[in-house]
Amino acid sequence: MISFAVGAPDPALLPGELVAALAADVVAEHGMSVLQYGATRGFPPLLDQAQILLRERAITGAAGRTHIATGGSGALHSACMALLEPGSVVLAETPTYGPAVKVFRSHGAVVYGVESDADGILPEALAATLARQRVAMVYLLPTFQNPTGRTMPTARREQIAEVVLRHGVTVVEDDVYADLRYQGDPLPAFWSFAPHSTVYITSLSKTVAPALRTGIAVLPEYLLEQVLAMKQGIDMQTSTFNQAIAAGFLRSAAGAAHVARVVENYGAKLAALTAALRRHMPSGFSWTEPEGGMFVWVEGPAAVRWRPTSPVKDSMPVRIRCHG
Ligand SMILES: Cc1ncc(COP(=O)(O)O)c(C=O)c1O
Repeated sequence: MISFAVGAPDPALLPGELVAALAADVVAEHGMSVLQYGATRGFPPLLDQAQILLRERAITGAAGRTHIATGGSGALHSACMALLEPGSVVLAETPTYGPAVKVFRSHGAVVYGVESDADGILPEALAATLARQRVAMVYLLPTFQNPTGRTMPTARREQIAEVVLRHGVTVVEDDVYADLRYQGDPLPAFWSFAPHSTVYITSLSKTVAPALRTGIAVLPEYLLEQVLAMKQGIDMQTSTFNQAIAAGFLRSAAGAAHVARVVENYGAKLAALTAALRRHMPSGFSWTEPEGGMFVWVEGPAAVRWRPTSPVKDSMPVRIRCHG
């Protein structure tokens, strides 16, 4: 099996030279403080840069409750520590990002899938489930979802926000692919429709480098102190050195040019992949045509058995599910 569960960047597109130059710059600029312990909430210059990135996603007025996490995964883990206890119920889209389900279960949570369509989780199904039981967290991936590639349109975001606000439940919005948009206009983050009930999580792993382990989280007021206390216990803080490099990347023209190059390259790969699917897939198969991200979801008819013959190299991730 070739696992495409984690969206790994193309190694040829990792910005080695730029990161090496920034590593030297940050020591020259900040001295030994970048090698020292720092504030658990985050390195101030990166928190400032994060606000610029968040503003582009309609996330404003929350600078005081933004923090830098050890990747999107670290943000998810500390949110789970604050929100979940054994027996807690987590609701997720179907299908959803498998590693997150493992994290929820590791906190003793019971995870239920809520019926979803091409636009994401269904408001009626979510409302019915929330009416039936107490729920600790709704986990959503509204943009370029892993694994389907689908994006929740603005109207659906508004409908889901109305449902979660009515039921007073916390949403975790996992938005690590937002900057990999190849077509169409950016959508406002789900957070912007429920800013006091949503944990917003994003990451620099997909556009800069996973090894920087730099994520950004925006927390509701009621979770901020608790999450930071948990984070202090888990890893004290996200590496100041890495945060300084990330801040340098985000404020540099070379960083912006790198992200543009990544987007252009992945956009061309996605176009090649969907063109190949149109050309080669037999009738009875269907697939998503995302405007960005790293995933295309292919479904086949019941009679088909998928048997991979050789490893697929150097391609966009494809996940194939056959019914039956
Ligand atoms: C949906 C989703 N969330 C989170 C992550 C983890 O991101 P990070 O490297 O920032 O921990 C991934 C990585 O593939 C992902 O696909």
